[in-house]
Amino acid sequence: MESFMTLFISLLEILLALGSWTVPSEAKAFFVFGDSLVDNGNNNFLATTARADSPPYGVDYPTHRPTGRFSNGLNIPDIISEQIGAETTLPYLSPELRGERLLVGANFASAGIGILNDTGIQFFNIIRINKQLEYFQQYQRRLSSLIGPVQSQRLVNGALVLITLGGNDFVNNYYLVPYSARSREFSLPDYVRYLISEYKKILARLYELGARRVLVTGTGPLGCVPAELALRSRTGDCDPELERAGDLFNPQLVQLLADLNRQIGADVYIAVNAVKIHMGFITNPQAYGFVTSKIACCGQGPYNGIGLCTVASNLCPNRDIYAFWDAFHPSEKANRIIVSQFMTGSVEYMNPMNLSTILAMDEKA
Ligand SMILES: *[C@@H]1O[C@H](CO)[C@@H](O)[C@H](O)[C@H]1NC(C)=O
Ligand SMILES: *[C@@H]1O[C@H](CO)[C@@H](O)[C@H](O)[C@H]1NC(C)=O
Repeated sequence: MESFMTLFISLLEILLALGSWTVPSEAKAFFVFGDSLVDNGNNNFLATTARADSPPYGVDYPTHRPTGRFSNGLNIPDIISEQIGAETTLPYLSPELRGERLLVGANFASAGIGILNDTGIQFFNIIRINKQLEYFQQYQRRLSSLIGPVQSQRLVNGALVLITLGGNDFVNNYYLVPYSARSREFSLPDYVRYLISEYKKILARLYELGARRVLVTGTGPLGCVPAELALRSRTGDCDPELERAGDLFNPQLVQLLADLNRQIGADVYIAVNAVKIHMGFITNPQAYGFVTSKIACCGQGPYNGIGLCTVASNLCPNRDIYAFWDAFHPSEKANRIIVSQFMTGSVEYMNPMNLSTILAMDEKA
């Protein structure tokens, strides 16, 4: 009797496995490009100093182990996957990303990178954005040999794409050191114009490669992260120079996306106002259940904003009451607040529309 049940269950498992193989899941595929805010482990496979693969990173992840995510637990792409009803995407460099797993999408992001090739050179071997786009092409060749070119194209065209770039072009390039090469070469307004012109090429390339729904995040409040409070702020107020960088960059990005959408004649690019999304809980942390939005949970020095988060750092006992996990990155709790704005934010947050609206529209299409 028992062996019959075991056989029955094994047969059932095989049938279920076959079913999920032949009927691709209803959820959209999801592709992620960008920097450490969205990297979910690609840098683990590289010889770089920009990595999150040792404790206490991942302390609140389901496995309680570090994964390469710059978070105590889930990061923004994980929570987006949850919201669209999909499995979480694997890092593109993961050997587990093959076969059926390819249908879910892939994460190409790499901590430390920026719009410019010279951003993050101090981290050595990272996947710069042009390389991420090359990998996207390579991915599509692999997908195509699995399900054929027509289905492959359909999956990519129907997918959701997230790209998060730009923060490092300021904090890990222009403002990395006083008198940096880029700050001697460009005034801030000229540097921003240059970044926007380079970003335009990257976004146009994504469209050429088949992306049709692209969430593009502006830079967050760069001057308000614990690292910058520790380095640049005497009073604990956000650093005005970095705020000025975002104030110049973000509106030009919104304009660029509107121009691209007009040229294409469709709402391909969606501008995510990361400053507005973050400022809610930065200016009023208590309203969101945080005790502080200035002090990182993990780190050392003023605001826990100096150096890396390691086993030797201060670590807060309850990560849910800190807006920042480490000196630069939000906690899982903050990431959940951020993604809830992606889903339902008004047009000041998500322009021209939020993710709920996109999902509802694409469902009908
Ligand atoms: C960055 O590097 C890629 C390839 O390595 C190159 O194609 C691209 O033109 C470079 N971008 C700039 C702005 O130099
Ligand atoms: C999404 O955005 C639309 C348009 O701005 C808005 O009307 C709606 O309330 C937002 N939330 C949801 C859940 O759709």
